[in-house]
Amino acid sequence: MTPDVRGATERDRVRSYALVELSTARESAETPVVAGKVEIVSERRTAIVTGAGRGIGAAVAQRLAADGLAVAVLDLTKESTADTVAAITEAGGTAIGVGADVSDEASVTAAVDTIVAELGPPTVVVNNAGILRDNLLFKMSVDDWDAVMGVHLRGAFLVTRAAQKYMVEAKFGRVINLSSTSALGNRGQANYAAAKAGMQGFTKTLALELGKFGVTANAIAPGFIATDMTKATAQRVGMEWDEFIAANAAAIPVARVGAPDDIAHAASFFASEGAGFVSGQVLYVAGGPKD
Ligand SMILES: NC(=O)c1ccc[n+]([C@@H]2O[C@H](COP(=O)([O-])OP(=O)(O)OC[C@H]3O[C@@H](n4cnc5c(N)ncnc54)[C@H](O)[C@@H]3O)[C@@H](O)[C@H]2O)c1
Repeated sequence: MTPDVRGATERDRVRSYALVELSTARESAETPVVAGKVEIVSERRTAIVTGAGRGIGAAVAQRLAADGLAVAVLDLTKESTADTVAAITEAGGTAIGVGADVSDEASVTAAVDTIVAELGPPTVVVNNAGILRDNLLFKMSVDDWDAVMGVHLRGAFLVTRAAQKYMVEAKFGRVINLSSTSALGNRGQANYAAAKAGMQGFTKTLALELGKFGVTANAIAPGFIATDMTKATAQRVGMEWDEFIAANAAAIPVARVGAPDDIAHAASFFASEGAGFVSGQVLYVAGGPKD
């Protein structure tokens, strides 16, 4: 019902429109809007974690499985997911491995169909798959640019778009996007920094569009995390791994580099039922202030 706002003061008018917005949101999403009355669905949920064959994605997949979610461990090939799936199932959790290229629309559609059929509709998505193609701008090829945009941004878009209808149907969803401290600018990473800053804008927009359906979207922006990705960077700059770790740790307030579990812990919070009022945020998990 539209309130009659004729003759109202500006303040009353603003309040009236706010009430209309509120009632429209209630009608369209049937999401309770009063604190403490949010319906909690505690049945087992399905999560998709992309790039979960190793590194941060593997740790996130294992943590979400330990939290009780059934996890689709998605990576470029099914074979590359085997170690993560085995670690989850050996610990008593539920997981399947799915081979897909997140930057390819048909591949993502097929993967999500498989996940729905084998594990149930996904309501948690962690867009973690990533690649580096570092170079100074004058040496950066169009392929370097496109490949990075393709995996990080196009990939996150395709996977989230494919999964969102299941979240909206369930009136519950959690999208967690991997950004990076590089979003603030990093020499040699024009492509990667742009993609990781883009992940933040993508996250905030999802939060605005999907909030009324019980879906939150948040980004985690890790600092230096010891994985194969940072090992490859050490090689590229010609440093021994130990030396590279020590040099990076020296610039981090907590005096150590991060581990994949540090990111998994943050992802576990964002995926939890209790985090339903936290949306559109970027959490820097970097051992000290970044933004
Ligand atoms: N390691 C860090 O210090 C760090 C810092 C900030 C952000 N991140 C981000 O965290 C995420 C994970 O990083 P990581 O260090 O674990 O990297 P990683 O290289 O160890 O793992 C990335 C995984 O993504 C997979 N992948 C790549 N392209 C894919 C595609 N097209 N489709 C499906 N899977 C694909 C790879 O096969 C790999 O298993 C990335 O988005 C990365 O940009 C990492």
